[in-house]
Amino acid sequence: MIQTLEWTDCGVRFIDQTKLPTEEVYVNCTTHEQVADVIRNMVVRGAPAIGVAAGMGIALGVMNSTAESGADLKKDFDQICEVIRQTRPTAVNLFWAIKRMQEKFETLRVHPVLQIKQALTEEAQRMHAEDIAANQAMGRHGATLMPASGGVLTHCNAGALATAGYGTALGVIRAAVEAGKKIHVYADETRPFLQGSRLTAWELMKDGIPTTVISDNMAGAMMSQGKIGAIVVGADRIAANGDVANKIGTYTVAVLAKEHGIPFYVAAPISTVDLATPDGSKIPIEQRDAREVTHIAGRQMVPDGVEIENPAFDVTPAKYVNAIITERGIARAPYTESLHHLAQQRTKAHS
Ligand code: MRU
Repeated sequence: MIQTLEWTDCGVRFIDQTKLPTEEVYVNCTTHEQVADVIRNMVVRGAPAIGVAAGMGIALGVMNSTAESGADLKKDFDQICEVIRQTRPTAVNLFWAIKRMQEKFETLRVHPVLQIKQALTEEAQRMHAEDIAANQAMGRHGATLMPASGGVLTHCNAGALATAGYGTALGVIRAAVEAGKKIHVYADETRPFLQGSRLTAWELMKDGIPTTVISDNMAGAMMSQGKIGAIVVGADRIAANGDVANKIGTYTVAVLAKEHGIPFYVAAPISTVDLATPDGSKIPIEQRDAREVTHIAGRQMVPDGVEIENPAFDVTPAKYVNAIITERGIARAPYTESLHHLAQQRTKAHS
């Protein structure tokens, strides 16, 4: 399995996703500030991977602390969490991971400093293992929704590289292929950062899953030609009513899917469901550097001085989503009820 990120004796090691698909190089972080930078610069990206990276970054920062008392360690811990919090705003998994580490710290307050450090490190590693298990469960549920054969379109990269391993949307595709379904993936290239062509195609090629890369503006034509039997994407945040924030361009795909009568599925762990956000209009959308749009491989593609917009995500209203595949099962409309039900199941399982 692709090692997107891992805790090692020397720090946290990431595959550098900005260098793929032509170079497979790794970055080692020894401080939480470095982890914050790799999240911000998208060396690691994808909501679940960002969450696990946040947990590991916090654990690393705490390990490096020279505090000698629990109270002093808590002060360092709060600052470390703040540095991690300021990286990217949309993927709720980042905030979920910070909260989980905070809750863990609370249970440890009276323990010796060394024990707190050890327990937080273990918690971050647990998040890593749990994410892979969640993706595999999601795959088992979602595979039943995939066609027996034919084209499945995906947008961005919701694969092993966007998670601790196996993937959400690509996990569903992987599980369907493992179950004997003859799937051909259509991967939107996903301008401007090209997660589809650089990352999705790279990992599917490694697995030997037949893949065709298309530019984003070809998706409608592929659907109208009958090449696409289903669509499955990941999510960065799912509001309580089922509205889905995902990579910019997802909304366009979902609207096109409805027009062509093609099922549109979202695969995401429960940690991506944000019941505190009532609908998609309240999801903060990250605006990224204009240069990601103006330049391709270092070459300027637009005239000097022109206005640029670069929202990294859009919101797909719940009415376009046929089902949300989670590790706890498949949610369908009305999502306010089904997502709440699944989130409660999880709370019960953990209590
Ligand atoms: O900007 P990115 O590359 O972090 O955006 C990633 C996506 O939008 C993914 O589709 C989403 O995080 C789901 S990943 C399992």
